[in-house]
Amino acid sequence: MLRTHTCGQLRLSDVGQEVTLCGWVDSLRDHGGTLFVDLRDRYGKTQVVFAPEGGAELQQVARSFRAEYVVQVRGTVAARPEGTVNPKLATGAIEVRATAAEILNRSLTPPFQISGKDLPAEDVRLKYRYLDLRRPAMQQILLLRHRMIKLMRDYFDELGFIEVETPVLGRSTPEGARDYLVPSRISPGCFYALPQSPQLYKQILMVAGYDRYVQVARCFRDEDLRADRQPEFTQLDLEMSFVTAEDIIAVVDGLMVRLAREFLGLELRTPLPRMSYDEAMERFGHDAPDLRFGMELIDLTDLAQRCGFRIFAEVAASGGRVRGINAKGAADRYSRKGLDELASFVTDNFAAKGLFWFKVEGDGQLTSPIAKNFTAEALAQIAQRMQAAAGDLLLIVADRFEVTCKALYGLRKKLGADLKLYDPRQMHFSWVVEFPMFEFDAERNCWSAMHHPFTSPRPQDMHLLASDPARCRAQAYDLVINGSEAGGGTIRIHDNRLQQQVFALLGIDQQQAQERFGFLLEALQYGAPPHGGIALGIDRLVMLFAGTDSIRDVIAFPKTQRATDLMTEAPSPVDPGQLQELRIHVVR
Ligand code: AMO
Repeated sequence: MLRTHTCGQLRLSDVGQEVTLCGWVDSLRDHGGTLFVDLRDRYGKTQVVFAPEGGAELQQVARSFRAEYVVQVRGTVAARPEGTVNPKLATGAIEVRATAAEILNRSLTPPFQISGKDLPAEDVRLKYRYLDLRRPAMQQILLLRHRMIKLMRDYFDELGFIEVETPVLGRSTPEGARDYLVPSRISPGCFYALPQSPQLYKQILMVAGYDRYVQVARCFRDEDLRADRQPEFTQLDLEMSFVTAEDIIAVVDGLMVRLAREFLGLELRTPLPRMSYDEAMERFGHDAPDLRFGMELIDLTDLAQRCGFRIFAEVAASGGRVRGINAKGAADRYSRKGLDELASFVTDNFAAKGLFWFKVEGDGQLTSPIAKNFTAEALAQIAQRMQAAAGDLLLIVADRFEVTCKALYGLRKKLGADLKLYDPRQMHFSWVVEFPMFEFDAERNCWSAMHHPFTSPRPQDMHLLASDPARCRAQAYDLVINGSEAGGGTIRIHDNRLQQQVFALLGIDQQQAQERFGFLLEALQYGAPPHGGIALGIDRLVMLFAGTDSIRDVIAFPKTQRATDLMTEAPSPVDPGQLQELRIHVVR
């Protein structure tokens, strides 16, 4: 070993010891002939002192140190003189008085200071990821990620799950995104698809009798990227046989209890709260609501018909909805210009036709440019329904149901953050259940699966498959943390005929079903047990637990919004010879 201790290890109890440390030069200060070097590694920082008594030669070596040089220092551990103890540093009570030092490697001047307070631009961080990952904040996150995954593995091992790896080169599983394809050299014109999830393999493992499967699985989806989405991400994927949705929810509840206790110091009460999809859409306009604050959506449609205001009345009469939120005490927060900006926010981002507002005056009266259109009775009813109090700001959208959901969800989220309605460190865990089986896809003029095509309807809704698919609810459940979908799963179809019926509703005819999922349909006929499962997004979980708002912060080598890796410059053109071998001709 080139070192006897790490840079985070030494304490007062080590005073007097001869030690050898290795690390990166974090900083170098010259105080009247005595040089102080902070040495850093992933365990911490230690102050090394090069005093004049150590000799000019040794000081000369230290003087040639530069930021990020890799050095080895030998010396004696000493208590820091009184008044120089640094209580913020774990090693802050001691220093190492150097007796020998050597440069192990030099460094170019780094493009940013590793321990600096200011974060460099993200493209610089991603290009020099090895330097970015040297930052203590990043090292803490990757350590947290490691420990969370270890806890997950231990938890499932205790419950008798076994980890089985499934192929990366496989057949496409429809999870709603585009596939990444890999050309086959041996079968020209044929392609593997990188898994969007191990969905079908894990179902096949149930048929094979591995009734408790888990995997830390890499998934690949070619989709539009956002702050919480990467083209390549990791799931904690699991599947169980002979279970109901309740059993799977209970297993995940248990995992959340352990994770929250260990990493947040939080005691969660189980069962975690639950709400149906319909309730979530009514109260929050979204299937992954942020429950850290109230400001729920309030329906005014029944009042709209006779309120006097033509726009509201027309929307209500044509089957649309009039809904709003009450931003408590926010009337003074927004000037006319601010309100115009809120209106543009909902019209530009959510295609809402407009945003209507009322301010609640001291006497309880509602004021607004549109107020004169309403009957006095209607204004009083709106105020009462929205529990308006002096100083409140009422924001209302009148539109198709889906538009009111999206616009008010977006507005609620924005106001929640702008008005600081919750403590960002607060964590809220819940489930959303009873999702619809299908959404109508107007473009293709047929139903599409809300989760995926292997999801089972609720037993009491089976008959609706034939009569009213829109009302058919799935045995599906999503784990929601702080308004983020942290996981989703379903009880699966284990009956070949039911699977074919669902395929047919999804516009997948028998021949297509055979071509794409023939192996599954066949396997279902060889004694498939009732089964179900879930996948949790590990990156998202770590992101939420680490309290960062970018998924890129919790992945060692993430991709940009344009799905590129700035460090390795992937994707990149390839050798023409390689393309020829694959019989691929690139059309530009
Ligand atoms: P689903 O598609 O809901 O379900 O994915 C499960 C969880 O994975 C995370 N996730 C992502 N994380 C980062 N980047 C992405 N692009 C991304 N896409 C999804 C989310 C999500 O909740 N096979 C099913 C699971 C099942 O039914 O068992 C599936 O993959 O946190």
